[in-house]
Amino acid sequence: MDVDRIRNDFPCLQQSINGRVPIYFDSACTTLRPVQVIDAMNEYYTKYPSCGGRSVHKFGTEVTIRCDDSRDKIQKLLNAEMPEEIVFVKNTTEGINLVANSLGFEKGDVVLGGDKEHNSNLVPWQVLSDRIGSKYDMIESDEDGSFSMENMKEKMSDKVKMVSIAQVSNLDGSTVPAKDLIEESHDHGSLVLFDSAQAVPHMKIDVQDLDIDFLCFSLHKMCGPSGMGVLYGKYDLLDKLDTFLVGGSSVADTTYEDYKILKPPQKFEAGLQNFSGIIGSGAAVDYLMDIGMEEVHEHEKKMNTIATKELSSIPGVRILGPEPEKRGGILAFLVDGMEPHDVAMILDEVANIMIRSGMHCNNSWFNAHGINGSSRASFYIYNTEEEVHIFKEELEKIVGEFR
Ligand SMILES: Cc1ncc(COP(=O)(O)O)c(C=O)c1O
Repeated sequence: MDVDRIRNDFPCLQQSINGRVPIYFDSACTTLRPVQVIDAMNEYYTKYPSCGGRSVHKFGTEVTIRCDDSRDKIQKLLNAEMPEEIVFVKNTTEGINLVANSLGFEKGDVVLGGDKEHNSNLVPWQVLSDRIGSKYDMIESDEDGSFSMENMKEKMSDKVKMVSIAQVSNLDGSTVPAKDLIEESHDHGSLVLFDSAQAVPHMKIDVQDLDIDFLCFSLHKMCGPSGMGVLYGKYDLLDKLDTFLVGGSSVADTTYEDYKILKPPQKFEAGLQNFSGIIGSGAAVDYLMDIGMEEVHEHEKKMNTIATKELSSIPGVRILGPEPEKRGGILAFLVDGMEPHDVAMILDEVANIMIRSGMHCNNSWFNAHGINGSSRASFYIYNTEEEVHIFKEELEKIVGEFR
């Protein structure tokens, strides 16, 4: 992978702040955007800033074609059976909420998650429980943070209607054994939803091969626009889902007395869409597929392996989760005697190194473990070994001085 060439595509890496180029290690939160995506979005506003799917003039037709193109590209990225299985939503959170609110859960139904779910894949199920009397339960991880198939098997029963779990954890990068987990769920008659916010941007995903029922992700974590996400669902399941948000574009016809809802995906895409976002999403998918998702994954693993080795040599630094090969591009750590926010602020202040700190929307896990947060570095296609070395040197100095 030609990281130098890739870096040239990212305008914000061309600037210097206080004499230093920023080192961006916060891609698990949001990635940087390449010029190809920014240009595609600008082109919508400068050349054909109109309404797709409705207006039949030249501008409108251009928007319709480009939005259809983007859906096709995402279908290809996931190897979905048909483009109609790709629903545009605003983010992962909305995709999960859509399924939680539309699948027709009933009192007594059990939804299973992991013990490290992002609030976006926890609260919708907790609220559902409060509202209708379904039950939320969780599968505890192994000691080192890895997914435990044994613990899952203990929790499975014919009451479980949905296993909704992060494919890759944003807390420590640990990754579930996707195929085994799906097979085990299906054997018990349960559906599976993958919160793939930290998976789709980082690895090759084949939804048909996995036989996954629903999968959600956000484009802002994969070089795409903010405010764009995708809900993938098997067509038959999407067809059976209730509508959640309705109005213009989601109906074939109405009378004063009645309405006729369209088929998926239009059934879920009510109201005027984020056209520049949809077009930018297609550009982001093109950008990543040109690099190759296997290459992306290998590069992140390499960065993480080097960073883990380097940080492990700093006294007082403790890394969360299993070995680096199992953590994708995520390296979460604690520094004895230092607050995570202090670590992040000092790194930013002294060296323009941008990491994340806090509970990363995984409050439930941190509260259960009595820890008030962690520091998290996360790597992506534009990060270099040299940046990792600088990170280690600067962190070592900070730990030596402030701990
Ligand atoms: C695992 C996971 N799930 C869900 C989300 C929520 O994503 P969004 O805020 O784009 O909906 C995130 C974001 O950090 C995440 O890491």
